[in-house]
Amino acid sequence: MKEKGMEVGSESEIKTWKEVQLLYSSALKQIATKIEIINDEFQHVHKYNPIEHVKKRIKASESIVKKLKSHNYEPTIENMVKYVNDIAGIRVICSFISDIYRVAEIISNQKDIKVIAVKDYIETPKDSGYRSYHMVVSIPVYLSDRIVDTKVEIQIRTVAMDFWASLEHKIQYKFEGNAPAHINTELMECANMVSELDSKMKQLNDEIQELGAGKDEENFSGTYI
Ligand code: GTP
Ligand code: MG
Repeated sequence: MKEKGMEVGSESEIKTWKEVQLLYSSALKQIATKIEIINDEFQHVHKYNPIEHVKKRIKASESIVKKLKSHNYEPTIENMVKYVNDIAGIRVICSFISDIYRVAEIISNQKDIKVIAVKDYIETPKDSGYRSYHMVVSIPVYLSDRIVDTKVEIQIRTVAMDFWASLEHKIQYKFEGNAPAHINTELMECANMVSELDSKMKQLNDEIQELGAGKDEENFSGTYI
């Protein structure tokens, strides 16, 4: 496929780990900018920030190799690009569940973004109690001589879901995935509390919005960045 005289590169043209890093970090920057723009626009139009904060990372090469091996793939560059969807990862932390779906929809509707897969662990939480909205998208990265569609995993969750996920991750890491039963039970209880908290906070927020209060979020002198 040609675009303005430029070849759209294929996966097999990516030769080195340095090239992988360059491509994926470029894709990550583009997605992060898009998310920042969505937030700025919301602030401007609705005087409201749907996004609390954003974290991004490039997966360490050792983790990529480990993942490939666990799926019985040879640890080649070609296989990395083909089979590992989360080399570039971005986590978007929102205040409310409604913001998650709003952000996901806006991103999905952008012309240069292709949605490859969606996993809605809010609608269907994992057995662990994990809740989050996952999308794997691809975005064209313009290199000097070609364009490469590059995948990014976007995880969108509330502050409360993120709090839960980081504690659960720490616990599973510590126990290497074999946490004592009572800890898993308590984690599940916490997950239910998180779910309840998310819905109660949303109700409160809606009530406040209806009263017309909380219009001005600029009572802070300055913004934390
Ligand atoms: P991975 O091989 O772990 O990437 O899983 P996957 O390719 O089947 O995708 P999935 O959507 O299940 O998980 C992707 C990512 O979501 C993980 O790498 C974690 O960051 C996060 N995640 C999934 N399940 C859990 C969970 O039970 N607890 C926590 N803390 N995070 C999770
Ligand atoms: Mg992963």
